[in-house]
Parts: sequence; C-alpha cells; structure tokens
Amino acid sequence: MSRILEINIFRYNPEDPASVPRMQTYYLEETPNLNLFIALNRLKEEQDPSLMFDFCCRAAICGACAMVINGKPQLACKTKTKDFPNQINLMPLPGFKLIGDLCVDTGSWFRIMNEKLEAWVHTNKEFDPEAEEERMENSLAEQIYELDRCIECGCCIAACATAQMRSGFLGAVALNRIARFILDPRDKRSEQQYFEIIGTDQGIFGCMGLLACEDICPKNIPLQDQLGYLRKKMGVLAVKNYLFWKKRS
Ligand code: SF4
Ligand code: SF4
Ligand code: FES
Repeated sequence: MSRILEINIFRYNPEDPASVPRMQTYYLEETPNLNLFIALNRLKEEQDPSLMFDFCCRAAICGACAMVINGKPQLACKTKTKDFPNQINLMPLPGFKLIGDLCVDTGSWFRIMNEKLEAWVHTNKEFDPEAEEERMENSLAEQIYELDRCIECGCCIAACATAQMRSGFLGAVALNRIARFILDPRDKRSEQQYFEIIGTDQGIFGCMGLLACEDICPKNIPLQDQLGYLRKKMGVLAVKNYLFWKKRS
C-alpha cells in the first residue's frame, strides 16, 4: 500500500494584510517516482489553488524551484519523496525577498550581485563581426565551463551563515563567478580591479570557510576550490597593498 505523505508548507502572502505566517498541512497519496514538482502541482490542482511556488524547467537547470526541504535548501524538481520520511516540511529560501508561500525573488538578488561584480568580459577590443572566432584551448574552455554551470538557484546563499547575518555579502555564487572571469584570458581586468570587488568583508574575507555552500550546491560546482584559491590570491594582494601604503605614509 502506498504511503500517505504529510506535507507541511509555509504559508504567507506579504501583499495581503490579513495573511499571517503559518504552516499548513496537506495530505497526499504517494505514487511511484513522485517528486516534489509533481506533488506540489497535484496539491495546487486538487486541494488548494492559492498555493504559491515556482517551477520552470522541471529538469534541474533553471534554478527556480529551490526551497528548504526538511531543513536543507534543495531543488524541488530534483527531489523524490521516496527519499524522505512520511513528513515533509517545505519553507521558502531564507536570504531572499519573499513573494509568497514558497516563492522568493532570487532574480533581483542575482541582478544586483551581477552588477556589483560587473559580470561580463571586460575588453577594449572592438567587436568585429567579420573576424574569425578566436580559439581557446579546450582544457581552459572546460575549466571555465565547469564554473559557468551555476544555475543561480540561490541554495548556497540560503545555506550560508555569513549571507544570513550580513546583507550584501556576495557569497559563494559571486566568488565562483569572479574565479570564472579571472580564468578567462579575454577579460583584461587587473588583479587589483578584482581585489576592489571581492577583497573585503562583503567578499572573500567575510567567508568563514565552513563550506555549507559546497555541500548544498545541486550542481556540484567545486566551490571549495574557488574559495581557497581566491582567499590565497586576495590575501597576497592585501599584504602587498598594506606594504605599499605603509611605505608611502
Ligand atoms: S564557505 Fe563561505 S561562502 Fe560558503 S557557506 Fe561558508 S561562509 Fe558562506
Ligand atoms: S553555486 Fe550552486 S548552489 Fe549556488 S547558485 Fe549556483 S548552482 Fe545554486
Ligand atoms: S524547475 Fe527548474 S530547476 Fe527545478
């Protein structure tokens, strides 16, 4: 006989003055291979059309469905109910503006983050549409691609104690993106320019290094390696800058 799942969902609509934050319990019969994407859609269609949650690709590539599932930020479309006990608790990702129930506004957070990083290739070269594509070594292209696999789901920010305590902390996702531009030979920014972006307590020096981000990342991006690399690189630059200013004063 199939299980009856008890699904407790955070409910709150900040737009509705009568709405009060609370947990609401739903019961659903488990079917083979049930994932939380299907479970939540069934609940919405069969029991409560007012439920708010986000999904887009349902294939772990858009990042829209991230939520806290039994205490851990994860992608709902990638999460099978069979891997959980009968009781499943769903909360919105912390650290992002709540839109309603399980929906959060990760888009604005990521836009601001990308603007701070100037997350585009900086070059003085004029674009020539007639020119042949420049070659890049396969191994280097693969290294860059490895870091570019981030789907901006926000799980690493939700799991990061520093990001929860300090608004404006760039987090592993931003540090990983900077590591990606440092690798890219087309980006002509100097080490000092990168230092100005991430060489602060809001950047690499605010990171406590406990690596919840790496443990939680649903795309298994090697965040630990990037954080270690940047801490070392920016630490050396911080010492150089200090010695330079000391000499001048
Ligand atoms: S290692 Fe750094 S970025 Fe990752 S969760 Fe900890 S404080 Fe946040
Ligand atoms: S680094 Fe991983 S956890 Fe963080 S936003 Fe990207 S895919 Fe999500
Ligand atoms: S719906 Fe796109 S990642 Fe889950």
